[in-house]
Amino acid sequence: MTSSDTPRRALPVLDLVAPSGPPRDAVSSDDPRLNEYRPDTQALPAFHLWTLGCQMNQSDSEEMAGRLLAAGCSEAASLEAADLVVINTCAIREGAEQKVIGRQGHLARLKAANPGLRVVLTGCSVREAERDGLARRYPAVDLFLRPDEEPELVERLGLASAQGPIGAGSGLATGPVGATTMLGRRVVGAADNLAGTRAAAVDGGLLARTSAISAWLPIIYGCDKTCTYCIVPFSRGPERSRPFDEIVEEARGLAAAGYREVTLLGQNVNSYGHDLAPEARFGHITTERWAGRRIDQGSRPDLAELIRAIDGLRTGDGVPAIPRLRFVTSHPWDLSDRLIDAMADSPSVCEHLHLPVQSGDDEVLRRMGRQYGIQHYMERLQRIRRRVPGIAISTDIIVGFCGETREQFDSTLRLLEAARYDQVFAAAYSPRPGTPATHLADDVPPGEKRARLNELLALQEGIGLERNREWLGREVSVLVERIVPARSHEHATADDDAEIPVTGAAAGGDGAADQAAAGEGRGVNPGPGQVRLTGRTRQHKLVHLAGAPDLVGQFLTVRVQRAGAYALRGTLAQP
Ligand code: 5AD
Ligand code: SF4
Repeated sequence: MTSSDTPRRALPVLDLVAPSGPPRDAVSSDDPRLNEYRPDTQALPAFHLWTLGCQMNQSDSEEMAGRLLAAGCSEAASLEAADLVVINTCAIREGAEQKVIGRQGHLARLKAANPGLRVVLTGCSVREAERDGLARRYPAVDLFLRPDEEPELVERLGLASAQGPIGAGSGLATGPVGATTMLGRRVVGAADNLAGTRAAAVDGGLLARTSAISAWLPIIYGCDKTCTYCIVPFSRGPERSRPFDEIVEEARGLAAAGYREVTLLGQNVNSYGHDLAPEARFGHITTERWAGRRIDQGSRPDLAELIRAIDGLRTGDGVPAIPRLRFVTSHPWDLSDRLIDAMADSPSVCEHLHLPVQSGDDEVLRRMGRQYGIQHYMERLQRIRRRVPGIAISTDIIVGFCGETREQFDSTLRLLEAARYDQVFAAAYSPRPGTPATHLADDVPPGEKRARLNELLALQEGIGLERNREWLGREVSVLVERIVPARSHEHATADDDAEIPVTGAAAGGDGAADQAAAGEGRGVNPGPGQVRLTGRTRQHKLVHLAGAPDLVGQFLTVRVQRAGAYALRGTLAQP
């Protein structure tokens, strides 16, 4: 049912080309094929965006929400109240896809009650090579869009034409959408259009950012790595860097709008810039990359140059205009000395690095196609810890990868003891269709995967607790992010299969570590006029505290009084 009595327009769905056809032209608002869908006087649909997966998906959803709002749609109060449901999927593990498959019945019932309801499915589950099977897996869905087709959403629903200026001539370039490219022998979406559509969305004010404090800033789309277990290159295509100046301009705009924290996003941010044209102003950059063969990156910008430029945006009194700068995700293989130096030299860059290791065993890493060994990884870790004292390190681990022996798993446990991570996101290996690892035997039984995951959890819980206890009694700077609703279980990442710490969904749990982190907050006792607040330190540690509601968005000095394995608790040092 819809939220109001206003008759709503049933949305047309335009699938203008055969799903895996050749490259095609952009859909523009004056396309005659849209004529039969021109809007009537009824209200535009209320939409609900359901976002799963990583920060890149969250960022993409902000763009889609912005486009829908600019087209005149409103946001529904819930999925059940919507006329348009857009599901932004994650495919990193089967479990993430199952969450959406498992909701098809519910969506079908909603459609039966509201025949005007349309369901769009996008994100990493929409892969060109598997287009044919999508309708069977997701029977309640009307329109499938690959990640690189998301900027088309409004046009494909026939909504842009309803509002006149959206679309052609509005600065909202739709570009040559739908272009495809090959990865090996497979067709994947090419992210060629995304840099352009992003810039147009930023310029046109078509981003509905979910936070007024922290902003996502995509810098590179796609992934060129060849990790054998990973679906991302098949869903997001090869790497495409956004132009250097456009990123710096977006950051400048965020600073002017008062954002306190910016996170640069990419499946592998460390690759930033290698595909851009060389320029004389970057002549001092001589980095080389190895990707099976030598790639000369000379005279092209890199992540180090980019973070120095963003850090260089200063206020009148010379402090960084964006106080906190972060970036995810880094691949250990090309974590360059230049980047480490830039982190050390840039006061706005937070003392936290997410550096996925995946396994502590060289043979397993080789089968995973990770292109580094543990010795290299530990050398990088040592170097960054030397150059950025007190830096917190988090990682991702896959347990039970093809052929992982007990001894090889033990190497991962030994690695955790040696690396002493602040946080570990771990999951059991989940074979993904079409990835190279499907040619290897998935031979660690599910029960054994679960047991290894739990063992890893128990070990890391102790290490995480020890790491957090190092903060007891110290004063830390906390950027307050939100008010915790009364009796909330703080399931902020319950949908986020890719981001659940070690007790996560792969173990059959439901973000148990999130609950443990929230548990830390239950000891917070707000006084009169106070609420429960959470924020993060520069090291990305979650901190619970009590304070006035208007502290959200502010930097506070907090004294740490309690440390759990997943979060800290403290009190205001300076009320
Ligand atoms: N199975 C389990 N975990 C995976 N990841 C990526 N692909 C898989 C897979 N097939 C994990 C990796 C990655 C994180 C985002 O998800 O650890 O770093
Ligand atoms: Fe993000 Fe990877 Fe999931 Fe895609 S598959 S949403 S890139 S985590």
